[in-house]
Amino acid sequence: MHSDKIKNFLQKKRQAEQSGGEEKIVSQHEKGKLTARERIDLLLDEGSFTEIDALVTHHYYEFDMQNKKFFGDGVVTGYGTINGRKVFLFAYDFTVLGGTLSEMGAKKITKVMEHATRVGCPIIGIIDSGGARIQEGILSLDGFASIFYHNQLASGVVPQITCSIGPSAGGAVYSPAMTDFVIMVDKLATMFVTGPEVVKTVLGEEVSFDELGGAMSHGKISGVSHFVAKNEYQCMDIVKTLLSYIPQNSTEEPSIVDTGDDPNRLDNNLITIVPENPLQPYDMKEIIHSIVDNHQFFEIHELFASNVIVGFGRLHGRTVGIVANQPMVLAGALDIDSSNKAARFVRFCDCYNIPIVTLVDTPGYMPGTQQEHGGIIRHGSKLLYAYCEATVPKITIIIGKAYGGAYIAMGSKNLGTDMNFAWPTAQIAVLGSEAAVRIMNRKEIETAKDPAALKKQLVDNFTEKFANPYVAASYGTIDTVIDPAETRPAIIRALESLANKRERRIPRKHGNINL
Ligand code: HXC
Repeated sequence: MHSDKIKNFLQKKRQAEQSGGEEKIVSQHEKGKLTARERIDLLLDEGSFTEIDALVTHHYYEFDMQNKKFFGDGVVTGYGTINGRKVFLFAYDFTVLGGTLSEMGAKKITKVMEHATRVGCPIIGIIDSGGARIQEGILSLDGFASIFYHNQLASGVVPQITCSIGPSAGGAVYSPAMTDFVIMVDKLATMFVTGPEVVKTVLGEEVSFDELGGAMSHGKISGVSHFVAKNEYQCMDIVKTLLSYIPQNSTEEPSIVDTGDDPNRLDNNLITIVPENPLQPYDMKEIIHSIVDNHQFFEIHELFASNVIVGFGRLHGRTVGIVANQPMVLAGALDIDSSNKAARFVRFCDCYNIPIVTLVDTPGYMPGTQQEHGGIIRHGSKLLYAYCEATVPKITIIIGKAYGGAYIAMGSKNLGTDMNFAWPTAQIAVLGSEAAVRIMNRKEIETAKDPAALKKQLVDNFTEKFANPYVAASYGTIDTVIDPAETRPAIIRALESLANKRERRIPRKHGNINL
C-alpha cells in the first residue's frame, strides 16, 4: 500500500524533473540554450540545490489549458549554495509554455523572494520567458505586479541579481531592472518593452531583435545590463565573482579575504602617470589596478558610460567600491549616463556596507544643449544626492583636474566625505584657467594693446594660483597631499581608521531622490 504511494510520488517527482518534456528540452538545446535545471546546476555548488514547489501546477481552464498542465508551471525555484554561501533563486523554464508567467508561477517566485528577504540571502533570477501568459490575462499581469512589489521589498535588504539568458518582453523587463545587477548573455538574451513587430507597426522602423534589445545594446547604449557575458558559463562565473565582493544582506559586512598583497606596497610608476600636459589623457584604470590588492579590479558597467569607471576591488582584503573619472573618454567629463551609472553604484555600496573610494580627474559636467535638454541637471544631481546620502566610509583622491560642479559631485569634503587626499598634480578650481580668464578678464583682454600676451599672462597667473592642491589644503578641504607612490597604503590606513564609522541621520520615511 505504502509502496504504491511512494511509487506514485517518485513518478510525479520524475515527471516534474522532466519539465516540459523531452521534445521541448531538445528544442531548447537546439536554440543554443541550457535548460533551467542545467543552469541551476552550473550556478550552484554541486548537490546543494533544494527545489521548492516542484509540484505546483496552474488551475486554469480557459483556452484548453487543462490539457497543458506541467509540474513546476514554467519556473524552477529553490535554494542552494554558491561557494558555501546560501542563495535563493528562481529560473524561468522555457520548456514549459515558453517560461510564461502564470498566477501560480508568480506565487512560486514571490515565495522564494520572501524567504530570501526574511533570512537575509541574495536572490538570483534567471530569465528566459515569453512574459505574461496570454491565456491567464489579468492573473498573469497581477503576478508580475506582485514580483515587482517583492523586488522593492528586497531592495537594499538583500542583493538581487538577474541573469538574462533568453527573451524578456513587455512589463517582464521591469523586474530585472529593479534588481541590483543585470547580466545579459550575448546573442541569447533580449529585453524590450515592445518587440520589433510593434516597433515596425507604430514607428515604421525596421530593427532586429538583437539590435533592439540584445545584450550589446543594453550593455553599451541603454545601460540596462551591467555585464555582457559571452555565454551561459561566463554568466554564472560573473554571478560567483560578484557575490564574492558583496555581503549576504544589508546588516552584514563583505567577507575579508586574505589576498596576500602587502598593504604598504608602493608604486613609483604612479609618480609620472599623469602627463605634464593637462590636455593629454592617461588611463585611470592603470591607477586603479596599481592600488587594489593583486591588481584585481572587477569592473561593472564596463561598456556603458565609460567616462566614469565603477567596480569592486579589495584593499588589504576588504571590499571597496571604486568610482573614478576616465580621462581617456570625453576627457572624464560627467554627463547624464555617467552620473546615473555612478550614482546607482554609490547607492548600492551604501546599502551593503561597502566603503567608497573615489578617484577624481574631471574637467566638469558636460556642457551643451543635448545634455541640458536631456536633463543633465536632473540626472547630474543624482550623483550629489547619492554621495550625500551614503554613510559608509568615503575616501576621495584628487589625481588631476577637479573643476566646478564635478569637483563637488565626485566625493568632495562637504558632501560628507571622511578623508580627502590629493596628489601634487591635482588642480582644484571653479573652472579651468583658460575658461576662468575668458570670463573674469574679457573686457581687459579685448582692450589690451597685446591681447594675446595679456591673456597668456593672466592664464599663467591663474594656473599658478589654482592649478594645485595647496589652496584647498590650506582650508582643510584636502586633508593631506600625498605622494602618488603611496596612494595604496594611504587609502588602506584611512580605511582602517574608519572601520568603526557610525553615522546616524534624522529618521524619516525615505528621502526623495531627484529621479
Ligand atoms: C502564452 C506563449 C507566450 C505568451 C510564448 N508562448 N509566449 N504562450 N503567452 N506570452 C508559447 C508559444 O506559443 C510556444 O508554445 C512556446 O511558448 C514557445 O514559444 P515560441 O514562440 O515557439 O519560441 P521562440 O520562437 O523561441 O520565441 C520566443 C518568444 C516568442 C520570442 C518569447 O514566443 C514571443 O515573442 N512571445 C510573445 C512575447 C510577448 O509579447 N509576451 C507578452 C509581453 S507583455 P508551444 O505550445 O508551441 O510550445 C507582458 C506584460 C507583462 O509580459 C506586464 C507586467 C506589468
